[in-house]
Amino acid sequence: MDMELLKKTYVVTGATSGIGLASAAALARAGADVIGVGRSTERCRQAEMAVGSLNPATRVHYLTADLSQQGEVRRLAFMIKDRLAADGKVALDGLVNNAGTYTYWLTLTPDGIETQWAVNHLAGFLLTHELLPLLRTAPYARVVTVSSDSHHGARIRWDDPQLRRRYDGLAAYGTTKLANILFTVELNRRLREESSVRAFAVDPGLVKTDIAMKGTPALVSWAWKIRRSGGTGPEVPARCIQYLLIEPSIQHATQQYWKNCRPARASQAALDNRSASRLWMLSEGLCGIGEWSS
Ligand SMILES: NC(=O)c1ccc[n+]([C@@H]2O[C@H](COP(=O)([O-])OP(=O)(O)OC[C@H]3O[C@@H](n4cnc5c(N)ncnc54)[C@H](OP(=O)(O)O)[C@@H]3O)[C@@H](O)[C@H]2O)c1
Repeated sequence: MDMELLKKTYVVTGATSGIGLASAAALARAGADVIGVGRSTERCRQAEMAVGSLNPATRVHYLTADLSQQGEVRRLAFMIKDRLAADGKVALDGLVNNAGTYTYWLTLTPDGIETQWAVNHLAGFLLTHELLPLLRTAPYARVVTVSSDSHHGARIRWDDPQLRRRYDGLAAYGTTKLANILFTVELNRRLREESSVRAFAVDPGLVKTDIAMKGTPALVSWAWKIRRSGGTGPEVPARCIQYLLIEPSIQHATQQYWKNCRPARASQAALDNRSASRLWMLSEGLCGIGEWSS
């Protein structure tokens, strides 16, 4: 067990399968308390049993929330606060914004937002906003957002950021993964150097998960099945996520985009401060939050 992790608590979204499940398992094995988040009560129950059985010394709880809906994200933040309080804790040591989806067709959430934009970007933005006071209370805390190499070549079309007028599922996915890095850049800028909270974005690489086989056309599922066969297991990015959550030496690292526990090259568009700031204001508006004072 890692003595560093004992008594620490981490929230992992999308912790019922793939990279999120592997990250929750790695953290629990290492001795941390884990709050996993999933959208299905049954899959949450199964994951809680599986992850909870890995280490009797840790507390593992799963909470159900559909992160495509902003009301659910806010409700989740309340449930996390209640959970911490029930465990006698006042601080949260890290948040992993991992939940992600790929939608081939244009679908809108009940809030009227394109689904990938809502789940892959806005949910992490809003959840971080809601949990920041708890993260600030920890001696040091991390916000790790799972992005992707597919942000390369993507750009935000400011006249139609959700691509609602001319939807293309892959382009929309790439845009949200670009948004993950821009969010990280702007969060760090707003938190400033001396903050105890630090944000990182991570490229998990190509990973053998079912992400493009959930509600997609048969041809897309088939193509993903072939493509993912060249990928790693989810335990590989889970190691990097754990590193970014706990490694003390990177608290003041200037590199914000990582892969395999090393800094990675993000696109110029992803590191553009003006776009990061513009996206932030757009996201505040879409989430109905006023000026985010950080
Ligand atoms: N696999 C790759 O090669 C790859 C590469 C680059 C980046 N990524 C990123 O890695 C992250 C994890 O993906 P993965 O590959 O591990 O896929 P995955 O196995 O499908 O995991 C996605 C997780 O997000 C959850 N989720 C999806 N929609 C949700 C919603 N509306 N509300 C709450 N939870 C929701 C899923 O729940 P269910 O279990 O109920 O489906 C699942 O737990 C994503 O952000 C993805 O963009 C993956």
